[in-house]
Amino acid sequence: MRRAKISVIGAGNVGATTAHWCAAAELGDIVLLDIPQTEGMPAGKALDLMQSSPIMGFDSKIVGTTRYDDTEGSDVVVITAGIPRKPGMSRDDLLATNARIVGSVSAEIRRTSPEAVVIVVSNPLDAMVQRAQQVSGLPHRRVMGQAGALDTARFRTFLAMELGVSVEDVSAMLLGGHGDTMVPLPRCTSVSGIPVTQLITPERLDEIVQRTRDGGAEIVKLLKTGSAYYAPAAATAQMVEAIVRDKKRLVPCAAYCDKEYGVGGYYVGVPVVLGSSGVERIIELELTETERAAFRKSVEAVKDLVAAMARLAEAS
Ligand code: NAI
Ligand code: 2OP
Repeated sequence: MRRAKISVIGAGNVGATTAHWCAAAELGDIVLLDIPQTEGMPAGKALDLMQSSPIMGFDSKIVGTTRYDDTEGSDVVVITAGIPRKPGMSRDDLLATNARIVGSVSAEIRRTSPEAVVIVVSNPLDAMVQRAQQVSGLPHRRVMGQAGALDTARFRTFLAMELGVSVEDVSAMLLGGHGDTMVPLPRCTSVSGIPVTQLITPERLDEIVQRTRDGGAEIVKLLKTGSAYYAPAAATAQMVEAIVRDKKRLVPCAAYCDKEYGVGGYYVGVPVVLGSSGVERIIELELTETERAAFRKSVEAVKDLVAAMARLAEAS
């Protein structure tokens, strides 16, 4: 049986770590690509990773390159190319630079892997997915963004720490953009089926929700030189696995919503069923009035970002 071909564009912290998790789980053969100026860097990381395979016991083949022809015919392409946040920067500060980078990467994907499912990771996430779909011209269901898998993992981690229980028993859901307006949903969050609202006081739950919203900034502040990458890469690998193994995982991710939730043609975080053809279904939750208002606010923030990106494109 042919192995899946997974290309990761951008061999920096998130890209290389995504390649690592995907290889360790034997999700397929991996191509790690970066810009020509990085010279041997992607090839060096790929070779280093390959040399861990006899110890870790995986048979995935990993190659590093600066040529898109090596990514040709990929089943999944992950875009991590771009600049990360530094302390004091918001995800939105990355808009102009990363829109240009994601645009050029997406044009190459259209040429070399028009049948691929594309997962965008570069920030500001919700605008970058929109850009990748517009430039690549791939169907909406085959272009999506990774954010919710990471944000729910952070939420689950903080809840497990609070309750002193296994993270495996905590299941969580959230909606909205990957930003300060994201909408964690305690109502849809449980520990082995017990609603978390029965286990933690509303005041403490609010604090944990806020820590989840600030999860990326907390790590930027600690690292000082860049942003998080272990958990973002693990979340991305979870999505790659759902696609290459056709697992039909129900995860939140940035998916194109038109009539769904009344969004009107934007990428925004919603629960989806992920399988081999990409976003196979969007799950529409019944929201309370408070949740609906928070979601609307988050969608407005995404729309503002997309409008700012369009203005930048016109000006250049
Ligand atoms: P990094 O700086 O370690 O790596 C970025 C890599 O992209 C560099 O190696 C750079 O040479 C490469 N690159 C730049 N232009 C390129 C191009 N045109 N083609 C191919 N490669 C190119 O940054 P890191 O930490 O890996 O973050 C990458 C992006 O992911 C950032 O925009 C960051 O904000 C975002 N991110 C998103 C998360 C999410 O949950 N959606 C979580 C963490 C990071
Ligand atoms: C994060 O949430 C920076 O988006 C990145 O860690």
